[in-house]
Formats: sequence, C-alpha cells, structure tokens
Amino acid sequence: MSSPTFFPVTEDVAASAWVDEAKYKAMYEQSVKDPEGFWGEHGKRIDWFSPYTKVKNTSFEGDVSIRWFEDGTTNVSHNCVDRHLATRGDQTAIIWEGDNPAESAHITYRELHEKVCRLANVLKAQGVKKGDRVTIYLPMIPEAAYAMLACARVGAIHSIVFGGFSPDSLYDRIVDCESKLVITADEGLRGGRKVPLKANVDKALEKAPGVTSVIVVKRTGGDIAWKEGRDHWYHEETAKVAADNAPEVMGAEDPLFILYTSGSTGKPKGVLHTTGGYLVYAAMTHQYVFDYHDGDIYWCTADVGWVTGHSYIVYGPLANGATTLMFEGIPNYPSVSRFWEVIDKHKVNIFYTAPTAIRALMREGEGPVKKTSRASLRLLGSVGEPINPEAWLWYHGVVGDGRCPIVDTWWQTETGGILITPLPGAIGQKPGSATLPFFGVQPQVVDNEGTILEGATEGNLCIVDSWPGQMRTVFGDHERFIQTYFSTFKGKYFTGDGCRRDEDGYYWITGRVDDVINVSGHRLGTAEIESALVAHPKVAEAAVVGYPHDLKGQGIYAYVTLNAGEDPTEELRKELVTWVRKEIGPIATPDLIQWAPGLPKTRSGKIMRRILRKIAANEHEALGDTSTLADPNVVHDLVSSRMNRG
Ligand code: WT7
Repeated sequence: MSSPTFFPVTEDVAASAWVDEAKYKAMYEQSVKDPEGFWGEHGKRIDWFSPYTKVKNTSFEGDVSIRWFEDGTTNVSHNCVDRHLATRGDQTAIIWEGDNPAESAHITYRELHEKVCRLANVLKAQGVKKGDRVTIYLPMIPEAAYAMLACARVGAIHSIVFGGFSPDSLYDRIVDCESKLVITADEGLRGGRKVPLKANVDKALEKAPGVTSVIVVKRTGGDIAWKEGRDHWYHEETAKVAADNAPEVMGAEDPLFILYTSGSTGKPKGVLHTTGGYLVYAAMTHQYVFDYHDGDIYWCTADVGWVTGHSYIVYGPLANGATTLMFEGIPNYPSVSRFWEVIDKHKVNIFYTAPTAIRALMREGEGPVKKTSRASLRLLGSVGEPINPEAWLWYHGVVGDGRCPIVDTWWQTETGGILITPLPGAIGQKPGSATLPFFGVQPQVVDNEGTILEGATEGNLCIVDSWPGQMRTVFGDHERFIQTYFSTFKGKYFTGDGCRRDEDGYYWITGRVDDVINVSGHRLGTAEIESALVAHPKVAEAAVVGYPHDLKGQGIYAYVTLNAGEDPTEELRKELVTWVRKEIGPIATPDLIQWAPGLPKTRSGKIMRRILRKIAANEHEALGDTSTLADPNVVHDLVSSRMNRG
C-alpha cells in the first residue's frame, strides 16, 4: 500500500486555528495587492514609542534599499520583556532544560526583566554604546537569551557565533564586525561532554586586541585561564549593578543583529537585520505558522547560534509573550528518547526541529518514541533542509501519532523569518513540500536566463518584493549584498535555492543551486572548506562538493591534490580531516577525502564542479558533456578511484 501524499486540514484544526483556508486566501491577497495597508495594520502588533507614518520603502533595483516602518521608534527588549510585565509577569517566559535531565529551570517574565536589565547595565558599565558590536559565544543556557535582549536593550548589535565554531572562525567573526566585548561561558555542556568555550575565546583574542572585555558565565566551574582587567565574571558584575534599566529608543531601521552565514564565495558574510520589521515579521510568523495561542508550551530545538534560534526561540516567541523552551543538550543523550521525554516532562504543545534529527531518531525505530506519551503535542515543525517524505511520514505517524499537522518551513538566515510554509488551519500538507507562501511573500520561479516560468515548473527560486523581516545589507559591504542577492536575476531577490512548483502551486525546495552545501541543516560554503584545505602545507589544490548523505542530508566530499612528492597516506587523510575541524570547526568535518592527481578543468582553468558532484554522488553514467575539459582523462581516473572506494 502506498503512503498518502496529501494530508488535508482537519476540521478541528481549522476551527481553532487563527487562519482557515478562506482567511488565508483573503489575507494573502491583501498582503500582495496592498502591502502598505496590510503591513501598516500588522506592524501595530508590537509597541512603538513613536508610531510610524511610513510603512514600506523598498527597492531591489540599483543600490537596493530596504526600509520598513522607517520613522517609527521602538525597542526589541521592551517588546519581548517589559510590555508583558503587567499582564504576565509571573508567567514562565523560558523553560530551560539542561543537558543533564536532572537540571531544569523556569524563568518568569519578571525574572527575565531583572536579568536583562542587570546585564544591560553591565554592558553600559563596560562602555558599550548604541551601535557597538558585541559577540556572543555561549552554550544553550538562559544567559544566551539575556545577552541578546540586553544588547537589544542598550542598542548594541549582537553577533552570535555558534559554539561549534573554532577559535579561528570566532576570530574572523570578531574582527569583521569589530566587536569590543565578548560574552561567553567557562565551558559548554553537550551530551555529557565539555566544550572549551573560554579557552577558544582566549585563543581567538590572542590576535584580536580590539576586544577590551570578556564577560564569563560560570556554567561548569571548570578550570579556565583568566586575564585580569579584561575578563569579568557574569555573576559578579550583574550583582553590582541596578536591577532596572531604561531601554534605548531605537529607530525601526537601527541594526539589531549580525549573523554570519556562508555563501558561494569568500568568507562568511555578516547578514544584518534591523529592529522594527524584523520583530514584526518574527512575531507574526511565530503566531500564525505555529498557530501559537496563549498558554501553549513551545519548543524549538535549534541553537541560538543559528537564525532559527534568533527568530523562533527568542525574538518571535518572547514578543508574543510565549513560554519558550530552551534545550542545552542533544537528541540522543542520555538516550534516544530524550526529545520525547522532554516533551512529556514539560507538556510541550508545539515542537519544531530539523530533518537531520528526525532521520537520526527514525533509525532507532519506534520503540524509543512509543514508550513516551507525547499526548500534549498539537503541532510539529521542520526546518533547515528539505525533509524527505519517509522522514515526514515517520514524524507525522510515529512522533505525532497521526494527530498533528506538520509545518515544513522554508526560509534562510537572510529572510529573517519563514517565507514558505503551510499554515496548519489553512493549507493541506504534502510530505516534502513547504507548500505556499506566507503573507506578503511573492515567490517566482525563473530559468537560468531569468525568464519567468509559469504554472507547474522547476527552476531557480526568487522573491520579487520585500517583506519586513528581510536582511538589509551585508555588514560593512553593501556591494556584496547587491552582488550576491540582486544581480543574478536583476531586480529580484535570488535565494540560491532551486525549486519545483506543482499543479496546485505548491513549492518543493530541491536544494541549493550554488556552491553552498547543507550538512545536517548547517550551511557551509564549499569555498571556505577549500581554502582551509589548501592552507595545509602538503595540499596543492582542493575542490569540495556536497553529496547525498542518509542522515546529514548532504555530506562533505573533498577532492584533494597533493604537492608533488607528497604521499597520499591514510595518515595524511586523517590529518586533513583534523585540520579542517581546527580551521573551521567540527561542523565542517569532511566525510570523504579523495586523492585527485588532477581536477577536471575547462581550458580556461575553471574547475567543473558539476562533474565532481556527479562523481561524488556515484552517478558516473550521468557526467554530461566532458568535451570542454582540458584533459578528459582526469575524469576517468577520478571515477575509477571513486568506484574502488564503494
Ligand atoms: C537554506 C538556508 C531557515 C533556518 C535554518 C537554515 C535550506 C531551510 C528548508 C526547508 C528545504 C530548506 C535552503 C535554504 N532550507 N529550510 N524547509 N526545506 N530547504 O538557515 O543556514 O540560512 O540555510 O537552508 O537551502 O537556502 P540557513
């Protein structure tokens, strides 16, 4: 029997949801026909110190300028904290679940307010002013949320660096945005293992003298080095300052945060998000996509080091006065039932995770899921990479007991919030499809020449007009912003993704069409990994591609040409793997390294990645046209050694 391919909206879900099918259609239509009117109304969902009179002022042409609610003033920390005090001061804002199942905590909105105010006062005492950059390198502990909100409160721009990045990567991100303060912890704790965060910061700062203060949260109490005058304990400093702090008045277009992300070329770029539009969009999508209602317990398993953690653990949920769960650990510690146990422990209603986690847990069978109740679950979400229908059906049938709609949410660091997704009460789901656009989002599919493709089709995914959560620029490099996103297809935002649109208008994201790979939902540029490899003294040249991987979605496949006279030993292979982990971080660990005496190049010297991708995927019959190669024999050599490896 074949599995169902369409899951219609059920009557009970439609009846209780914010939006049903008719309302979705009406709201969507208004949002694209009259964006000024639509967003002018929905912008009011947050508090403004002085209201906006202009709603939308955006252009994807020429210099590309994106401004929303530009003359309004507000503060994100006020909206996520202070404005809830009168009505929900004693409500839990954050449920923290530690790596160790015996550790958890509930933080009310009133407590959150005091924590954020105190840290804001510490930042000010350290000389941090509006517009200054602060780097956050923390594990998944409540202090990460306090740090984000404290920066927002004083008008500082935070840049969070995921704890899995190496000292070198951290260094690059500190220097690029000229941070003067870093907030970290002594050590992180994940799956019972310690992560040497402070030691990594110390290493990164050896070369970054611009950082004058480091605030250190004591998480494990492990031994760490200490630099007198520069390093300060979080608990000591926050105890010295007042428990209240007046939020800075911020313009709607003042920057809120920078988040580095990988692209096709060069070093990761600092994606810049601003205040008003970002918060309106994060909060609105959080409410409608997850059909969030007052009192729901909401859990997004992402790390705050990624955009998902920014928009859907901290900013969106807290702006909505939600109870958001923050999890320090990993899905398989202490056992592969951990997610489901946490759901039962905290009575989670809405659960949002990544396909890579679902696939890994699916491999363990139904037993570890079925021994838990999960009766509290009402809605499931997926994000980060395409979800294969098998994983979707397992998530739906086993985790959700066939009861919960799944929202497969497509978006990017650049988009700030979800752009293509089902709304649970309005849009029936097809396993593997992100379905239809959110309000105000106008997708367009174009061929490689930029010709607009209509109806059921396949091509490059663009978005033709702005939405409030969109990134505004690449920090310090507006030209790169224009080049990366608006020059491939003039006047349109190009996502870098390919997609198919079916006869019902549903979108199916097929993956990146550029040189970005997606490993377990983590985005990496092949160029970054290549430059890490060629930095090794024995490596002459390297080419990196993604290849299909059962668990990770994509794995990292590296073709390496050694310098003349170097032996391609098993030992060197291991050394290169360690080298890349050190240069970038464990998330960039190559899965396969193939020695390549030569790489397939055109006569003008351009590496033909199309061919390398096919060889990596074991699709040797489909190599396509190789006649333009400078030396076609190179391909035969690579294919035969690939096949020998199985
Ligand atoms: C890329 C963006 C969005 C937050 C996490 C990743 C891929 C993301 C989906 C999805 C298919 C997806 C795209 C996109 N992607 N969500 N639901 N279905 N693909 O953010 O690191 O900026 O990566 O992730 O390829 O371009 P990111």
